[in-house]
Amino acid sequence: MQKEIFEQPRALADTLQGVQGIDASLFNGPLNGDSDAAARMFSGIDRVLILACGTSYYSGCVAKYWLESVAGIPTDVEIASEYRYRTSVPQPNALVVTISQSGETADTLSALRHAQSLGMQKTLTICNVATSAMVRECALAYVTRAGVEIGVASTKAFTTQLAALFLLTLTLAKVKGNLSEAQETAYLEEMRHLPVALQSVLALEPQIMAWADAFVPKENALFLGRGRHYPIALEGALKLKEISYIHAEAYPAGELKHGPLALVTDAMPVVTVAPNDELIEKLKSNMQEVRARGGVLYVLADGDSQIQASEGVNVIRMPEHYGVLSPILHVVALQLLAYHTACARGTDVDKPRNLAKSVTVE
Ligand code: M6R
Repeated sequence: MQKEIFEQPRALADTLQGVQGIDASLFNGPLNGDSDAAARMFSGIDRVLILACGTSYYSGCVAKYWLESVAGIPTDVEIASEYRYRTSVPQPNALVVTISQSGETADTLSALRHAQSLGMQKTLTICNVATSAMVRECALAYVTRAGVEIGVASTKAFTTQLAALFLLTLTLAKVKGNLSEAQETAYLEEMRHLPVALQSVLALEPQIMAWADAFVPKENALFLGRGRHYPIALEGALKLKEISYIHAEAYPAGELKHGPLALVTDAMPVVTVAPNDELIEKLKSNMQEVRARGGVLYVLADGDSQIQASEGVNVIRMPEHYGVLSPILHVVALQLLAYHTACARGTDVDKPRNLAKSVTVE
């Protein structure tokens, strides 16, 4: 798992390799002989429906924030195992996007087939395996180049999915006339710089190991985020519970007062994903609520945020402020936190109990 976490700069660079500019043809996929397939499909869609499970579902949740705020396209994200069995209203002009590392997850494949059976034929997969059933069964594909992922807990698959989903966001924004040339250039530059930025996050490992020591004896942890970083809090909690067996929950920080605040005592470490974005002031008051109940904070802040370490407030500063793409960097710190906590607890991080890498049966 540690090897795969540290491969992420390379995985991102490979996933973005060959992307010269934003063009629908990026999404034609390896099996599509029709070079205009994606362009035709994208011009006729009026919304996006994302279907996925687990970590892949959380990347879809980040994409919803991007697709709505950058591209202006209404987006729904559904857990595949729920979607496949519920009665939903068919949306013939929706782009159905499945996200899957393996491309063989039974629930996601069934959800895709269910959408198709409802007449939704505009399908795209973001997938890490070019030869998978998902790539074969979707009309379009973007194959991420994370490389083979062996650790049961998904890491490099997630960050490369996010990169592909941001490319999709820019592509749909362009198709809809919501992306200027200057914006395209600026976003692409930021994406190309991601591998370097990520390298600096990996260099935070010693500080994160010191945090992990404090988590080792705990049985519960709370993760908070807001906006596009709420799914990152969800993913951080999933990583911790999968490999360390510590019970972890994630909440959008604004929900604290609506219930989870009752859990907060000095025995509850509270991780907050706190980049210096438009919601930082709101998040700071949520953190004060935690401190007032004795909760100990572990804050992943930005270099330019004004949050200071103090008693009960531990701060790690992310090396760069990364705007809309910052979920891709913040999540890596949480992967390392889960990894080092689990190692110190002596669990098998690569093969956690009761879990399989690919869930190919229901
Ligand atoms: O291969 P997929 O991306 O479709 O797998 C989906 C989930 O089973 C997977 O993300 C799972 O949640 C991982 N164990 C998370 O670390």
